[in-house]
Amino acid sequence: MSTVLLGVSGGIAAYKAVDVLRLLQRDGHDTTVIMTRSARRFVGPATFAGLSGRPVGGSAFGGDDGNPGYDHLDLARSADLLLVAPATANTIARLAAGFADDLLGSTFLAFEGPVLVAPAMNTSMFEHPATVANVAVLRERGVLMVGPDRGLLADGAVGAGRLATPEAIVAAVTAALAPAGALAGRRVLVTAGGTREPIDSVRYVGNRSSGKMGWAIAGAARRLGAAVTVVSANVALPRSEGITYIDAPTAAELADAVRDEFASADVLFMAAAVADYRPRQRTDGKLDKSAADELSVALERTEDVLGAVAADRRPGQVLVGFAAEHGPAGVERAAEKRRRKHVDLIVHNDISDSSIGFGADQNRVSIIGEHGVDELPTMPKDACAARIVDAAVALLDEPAG
Ligand code: CTP
Repeated sequence: MSTVLLGVSGGIAAYKAVDVLRLLQRDGHDTTVIMTRSARRFVGPATFAGLSGRPVGGSAFGGDDGNPGYDHLDLARSADLLLVAPATANTIARLAAGFADDLLGSTFLAFEGPVLVAPAMNTSMFEHPATVANVAVLRERGVLMVGPDRGLLADGAVGAGRLATPEAIVAAVTAALAPAGALAGRRVLVTAGGTREPIDSVRYVGNRSSGKMGWAIAGAARRLGAAVTVVSANVALPRSEGITYIDAPTAAELADAVRDEFASADVLFMAAAVADYRPRQRTDGKLDKSAADELSVALERTEDVLGAVAADRRPGQVLVGFAAEHGPAGVERAAEKRRRKHVDLIVHNDISDSSIGFGADQNRVSIIGEHGVDELPTMPKDACAARIVDAAVALLDEPAG
């Protein structure tokens, strides 16, 4: 269980801090709330005191609402993370300038752990050069930011400045508190889903890949601390906070996105089912079936994305391909693909077994590397993904040469 200090400053979004507190507690974080003086004009301290089971910190000297107050040094020593949600423009300015004339400011200066700030204000205030500069100063000093979101603001305008959702804020707290994993500081690129190659504006040549395996791999890499980018080809699964997504519905768009992202990636997991062929021509609008009884669609080869980036790899990058093969001879075909595409690992699965693979929540794979084949039993895709990511991590950690 972690100890979190929740600083609440005085904006209309202060009431949402009540939900943030509840979610923090649901996730087992012991939380002490510090309110700025103006926050108390929006929400009564009794609400936070009642929910957190602790007095609410306020002025630097305590006692202003009958409680003995907190010592900022004790608070700073006892906490694992300081969260400021919502952070008004004024509070952000005060943190950037280092004011210590209230409990939040002095605790911030005394605190040595991770600080997470969730700004909330009107769009003009957020985009004012003063606020932009203050946010930049805090970021430079290692303060983490969550949000703000774009959306309908309290003043009726639509723009940037909405407090991030309580769920996103608490997910950022969890990520900031996670112990540094084996992929901390590493960038991981994952492709997921199946490309669709248009025949006309409504029809396409596609495949049955759901994206579940790529999604699971992205989650496993994220849990190990990686900065994860997912290039998603038509995946309809829920997206996670803390992962960057790029939509690439066709093989050509996926190839562009992978090429853009690959140079900065340490590991590539090429889990997408990329079309090998696409219609040579795309009809604008909808093909008219009254025009003919038969239709032939001429297909042309697409680029082999994995093969192409593998040819451009720099030392130290780890590349993982996937091979869905039919029947028992598949492992050998997959091993041959590993050599042909010059990748470090190929993950093979047998698509003749319909209980695993496409759309299923379970998978049974073999991880084929230079030194042999690791045949894994049938397991949930999340567990399978963790094993695949571990196999790639083991190669990253191999000393050079
Ligand atoms: N792949 C790719 N670009 C393509 C096709 C496939 O990058 N145009 C990647 C897949 O994402 C996968 C790996 O290559 O990681 C193997 O895919 P697969 O379709 O099995 O390989 P192919 O080279 O197309 O082999 P086959 O001759 O069996 O179709």
